[in-house]
Amino acid sequence: MQETASEKIETAPENRQPPEAKKFDFMVVSNRLPVDRCSSDDAENDDDGWRRSPGGLVTALAPLMMKADGAWVGWHGAPDEELEPFSHDGIDIIPVALSTNDVELYYEGFSNATLWPLYHDVVAPPEFHRAWWDSYRRVNRRFADAVIEHAAPDATIWVQDYQLQLVPNMLRQSRPDLRIGFFNHIPFPAPEIFAQLPWRRAIIEGLLGADLIGFQRPSDAANFMRSARRFVGASIKQQQIQVKGPEGEVSHVARAQAFPISIAVDQISELAHRPDIIERARQIRQDLGNPKTILLGVDRLDYTKGIGHRLKAFEELLKEGRLTVEDATLIQVASPSRERVQQYRLLREEIEGTVGHINGSYDTIQNTAVRYLHHNYPIEEMVALYLAADVMLVTALRDGMNLVAKEYVAARTNDTGALVLSEFTGAADQLKQALLINPHDIDGLKGTIMRAVHLPANESRRRMRSMRKEILEHDVDHWSAGFLAALAEGELGDDS
Ligand code: F6P
Repeated sequence: MQETASEKIETAPENRQPPEAKKFDFMVVSNRLPVDRCSSDDAENDDDGWRRSPGGLVTALAPLMMKADGAWVGWHGAPDEELEPFSHDGIDIIPVALSTNDVELYYEGFSNATLWPLYHDVVAPPEFHRAWWDSYRRVNRRFADAVIEHAAPDATIWVQDYQLQLVPNMLRQSRPDLRIGFFNHIPFPAPEIFAQLPWRRAIIEGLLGADLIGFQRPSDAANFMRSARRFVGASIKQQQIQVKGPEGEVSHVARAQAFPISIAVDQISELAHRPDIIERARQIRQDLGNPKTILLGVDRLDYTKGIGHRLKAFEELLKEGRLTVEDATLIQVASPSRERVQQYRLLREEIEGTVGHINGSYDTIQNTAVRYLHHNYPIEEMVALYLAADVMLVTALRDGMNLVAKEYVAARTNDTGALVLSEFTGAADQLKQALLINPHDIDGLKGTIMRAVHLPANESRRRMRSMRKEILEHDVDHWSAGFLAALAEGELGDDS
């Protein structure tokens, strides 16, 4: 994991009949597969060397793929390993191999040290290297070729996320019969920021190969259309973009539109009712000394998540005596992520230093200020944590959606608890009854944390009920069905 505790995925791919000869009518393409290779000394290694992949993308797509008759094309997380197609949890998987060099240049470099910070409003400085870009193009070609080899005539292909933005046009050039969708899981920046990218034109052209380009928020779709107009001179009417061919003729019409992603609400609600998970939540509280208030943060250890801002606010509240360790504990789950990228290494050092400093200053023999957990946990444990937590803290500086916020709401089936939510997340568009904050405003954040800690029961119930209604009506099936219906029918959806 994790931005989320995700769909339960058994860890062992069943090497049943390899589906290499099969052609598929429906294919999902993403950088990551739902299962990830891990080394034998990895703590989360099940004895067969696989674990569930991190992140919201897998959380959202796994439920669809477990029901759909289709294939999932992606990387299995280990460099220099060529695998044959295999089947896992009933999903046909077509692995794409990455060399150590590809991982360094395409994944850690261009995807996560150029695009990731650029698309998150440059909260960290992006780096621009031509060798990274060359590798990005080569690897995108490899993903496109895997699709081309396995796609049945007229198949529907759904390409996912910023790592694969060139794939839609590569597919269109080789296989004009395909129906091509693309979904961007992270924000799309304003053209004034996107302009920094030396390869901005090629990226826009790559995306415009799709028939439908989905974004989390209407503002992301609008940013994309402004960039398409500015950098490739596209003519746009409403959300329809006329894409020109080499002779200047209109080759097709691409649409850009928001489809806010969600979670499997029923699955989380079911787990939240399970007696063993309720008991586990009680146990967690007891193990922490039954503090009056448990605050919870759950994030991939990423600089976009505002973990440092959250810790600063919490520490100041302890320092000012507005909270005490006898009364309040912060559990911070920070799941390991992109650990070879420099910015992530520095972040880990910084966060762990801060946690050590806070605990050193405020812990007593019995009570701890911050219980910091640098692990991935299965969904059952995550739901127990959601049930144990009185206050959920989501303080991202920028986030495409943030599914953890939605998972917390889904788990609070008795309408208790308080969600403190950054206004810079996609989730803030839908969870309007959360206590919204600007994470850069530390005094404002502290005030809102105190408000959440003391939220009257009737107000908490009113807010939670309204948020639960919202996510029950807009769960992950609603998201995928909405996108695929719009792709199939060529119709505009909700926000048009
Ligand atoms: O949601 C954004 C995203 O980058 C996904 O594409 C990815 O699966 C997830 O976060 C986790 O990131 P990574 O695959 O780099 O570990």
